[in-house]
Amino acid sequence: MRAIALSLSLLAACGGAADDDPWAPFSPTLQDRVIGLVRQEAPPADPTNAFADRADAAALGQFLYFDPRLSAGFLRPDEPEAKDVSCATCHAGDLGFADGLALAVGQAEVSRNAPTVLNTAFNRWFFWDGRADSHWAQALGPLENPLEHGISREEVVAFVQDEPEVRAAYTSVFGQDPSAEPDPARVFVNVGKAIAAYERLLVTGDAPLDTFARAMSAGDTEAMSAALSPEAREGLALFVGEARCHFCHAGPNLTDLEFHNVGLSVEDDGLKDRRDGLAVVLSSPFNGVGAYSDDPTAGARKLANLQVYEEGDPEGDHLDGQFKTPNLRAVSLTAPYMHDGRFETLAEVLEHYNELPPQPLDGHREETLLPLDLGADELAALEAFLEEGLAAELPPASLLTAPDSPTP
Ligand code: HEC
Ligand code: HEC
Repeated sequence: MRAIALSLSLLAACGGAADDDPWAPFSPTLQDRVIGLVRQEAPPADPTNAFADRADAAALGQFLYFDPRLSAGFLRPDEPEAKDVSCATCHAGDLGFADGLALAVGQAEVSRNAPTVLNTAFNRWFFWDGRADSHWAQALGPLENPLEHGISREEVVAFVQDEPEVRAAYTSVFGQDPSAEPDPARVFVNVGKAIAAYERLLVTGDAPLDTFARAMSAGDTEAMSAALSPEAREGLALFVGEARCHFCHAGPNLTDLEFHNVGLSVEDDGLKDRRDGLAVVLSSPFNGVGAYSDDPTAGARKLANLQVYEEGDPEGDHLDGQFKTPNLRAVSLTAPYMHDGRFETLAEVLEHYNELPPQPLDGHREETLLPLDLGADELAALEAFLEEGLAAELPPASLLTAPDSPTP
């Protein structure tokens, strides 16, 4: 007995092998889950946007993304209060393509936290409530939102027609002079398609998680030890195990790409949740089955199983208080967190999952979600995994700032 106690304390004293065995926290089931988190190289195709993978469209899109003239500040000189706003005002390249604020501010404060644009090419749905079904349809929203860019689609079209550089680039990409376009809404949509082509390039590279999971898959113990600290490994094992994060944050983007109610109470402030988002996406003229989709068959496949539930219809109650599961790659860059930015730190997010306050004011928390009752060390390990394990390589510097010209 004494001999065992002695050897154990010796091991502990020199941080011995047993302590540092990177396999230790991972049962075969957990190993499979970890390997399932390895990142995908390329985002899925978007057949509803024929320009999605064109370099010239992306160059025009990047120019428009960073152009503050595409807002009320520039386009409405008769409104002295109007501000210059670009997509980068709320999704800045040096702030993880978010804004560092709890609630985003354009012409005025928005009632939502600005999510990162990084890795949104992997999304199935866009916005916290999923009210857009494509990257390009999403991009049209903020332009016409009075709190964001604060302009109209007619003003967007006039801008493309009137700015010589933009007009030339547009004509070259879309094969049509914007002033000769018989349907001006097509020009508005094409602005969205160009911006989407740029956003598709904003994907993160390897994170320590990927290196670790590949090493695990190859059985390379040494590379596993080198990839993640013991604390982050412990956190990863909790993430895919006891803490049940993988119920929703699974797969290469640590999201199931769908919607859940995680017990954040939603005040009655007209905010949209999944029930509202469903109705909007199905009736939008810019959805994947509409006249502006380049592949309505593919668009229809995505929308096929959705159903609208009127407000008050109890059949739709499960949708109340549901928001999109965020992608967690590079999550440490994009505080504050949640759809309303209520948590300033990852530690606060974890505190929420650990304690889960009583039922939310709106809707029902998912039944799979139970208070975790983890100890301080375990919470610290989870936080270490989120920060260290998911700290991803950013896209090339040339994509992070405004380009000089709208052509490649
Ligand atoms: C005033 C700040 C603001 C501006 C300007 C803005 N956004 Fe956003 N963005 C937000 C907020 C807030 C949300 C979440 C809104 C919601 O879900 O209801 C969002 C959501 C998004 C999303 C969805 C992310 C996801 O995972 O679902 C993308 C992509 C995006 N914006 C891109 C853009 C583009 C492109 C532009 C410019 C055309 C733009 N944004 C302009 C604040 C802004
Ligand atoms: C039932 C599904 C579900 C489970 C289980 C779950 N999450 Fe989430 N997670 C979500 C959803 C949905 C959101 C967005 C909620 C909102 O804003 O209303 C979210 C948000 C987050 C965010 C904020 C990200 C951001 O960009 O704002 C973090 C971090 C996070 N979860 C980590 C975890 C961790 C760690 C666990 C395990 C302890 C976990 N989640 C368990 C579904 C889940």
